[in-house]
Amino acid sequence: MDTNLIKTVNKLQDAFSTVGVHNVIDLPQIISIGSQSSGKSSVLENIVGRDFLPRGSGIVTRRPLVLQLINRPAVASEVTETNTPKDEHQNKSDIASTLTGGDNMDEWGEFLHLPGKKFYKFEEIRDEIVRDTELKTGKNLGISPQPINLRIFSPNVLTLTMVDLPGLTKVPVGDQPKDIEKQIREMLLKYMTKPNAIILAVTAANTDLANSDGLKLAREVDPEGLRTIGVLTKVDLMDDGTDVIDILAGRVIPLRLGYVPVVNRGQRDIDSKKKINKALEAEHQFFENHPSYKSKAQYCGTPFLARKLNMILMHHIRTTLPEIKSKILAALTKYEHELLQLGDPLEEGKGGQANLVLNIITEFCNEFRTIIDGNSNDLSS
Ligand code: GDP
Ligand code: NA
Ligand code: MG
Repeated sequence: MDTNLIKTVNKLQDAFSTVGVHNVIDLPQIISIGSQSSGKSSVLENIVGRDFLPRGSGIVTRRPLVLQLINRPAVASEVTETNTPKDEHQNKSDIASTLTGGDNMDEWGEFLHLPGKKFYKFEEIRDEIVRDTELKTGKNLGISPQPINLRIFSPNVLTLTMVDLPGLTKVPVGDQPKDIEKQIREMLLKYMTKPNAIILAVTAANTDLANSDGLKLAREVDPEGLRTIGVLTKVDLMDDGTDVIDILAGRVIPLRLGYVPVVNRGQRDIDSKKKINKALEAEHQFFENHPSYKSKAQYCGTPFLARKLNMILMHHIRTTLPEIKSKILAALTKYEHELLQLGDPLEEGKGGQANLVLNIITEFCNEFRTIIDGNSNDLSS
């Protein structure tokens, strides 16, 4: 699939920004839910392709983390825009085209609670998430519905939002309230019930799918399974001779959008600071070499999950195209009206202004036509 999603969406967003309409495509939010330590944070992190989320056994994620990915062109390509094939390195079909290698100055994070402070090192982002979690919830496992808002600016991401949430748990520990189960449930429902939320219902493959808290809750808010993807983690930890083939084939709990098996970093990998690209390579090797999965390895792992998400995002864009068109028409009408108000373009003084608006409209229409033409090809493939 060559959707060129990042490029297409950015062109549309850019074209609209020139006429003052921002975020014309309201892309869905991707949220991960499931039991505590099922691997929710690991899955999101792998999709983004950066090491920045606190992970580990027990309740590590104790407040919602609202992560806004914001596409921002690389500084170098801004300078050479006219003679470089733009977005050449962005042509991958992932949410984030991953693994450009190491920290660089084109990518940084900013927290809402620390305005103006740019974090170029992803470990420092993680430290700040931990620090602010403890500041608001204490060190003794408390939880809070107050979100941490983090923005990541990068040339390699799609402008969309992901939410990392605390896991469903039943028995209060530490400073947790007696009704922790109810509180976390309510916290999750707040995000899950948004009609444009895509729910990653995460279940560890070494637990029984029928007991999956994530799937159960997802079913309550999305009974038809139109926006729920099943993610099976810890496939590497299953007993010898067992696999998730029956689940993938829809013979256990069928899910319209299906399941994706993944292998994230284990606790030992976290302790030894195994890098994300090494982890993704190990995941690839795992599925390629496993007797149960090697014949269907292309339907396994993080890259397939990213592709599935892409397909859903493309579908979303396609269904919002009519709305986008009417927004364009409205913008055109508005500018035509403004042009008329400005009077005869040849008139001294006002002429310059009128021409300026006219240029913007012309440029905008051309831009739009290219995008729609390009898009209709992408969408039908
Ligand atoms: P969360 O609590 O659901 O956000 O889960 P985390 O992402 O924090 O992971 C919890 C623990 O499970 C960590 O120790 C991870 O290393 C481990 N883990 C998560 N996914 C996998 C996996 O696919 N395989 C293995 N072996 N361990 C995993
Ligand atoms: Na955990
Ligand atoms: Mg977590």
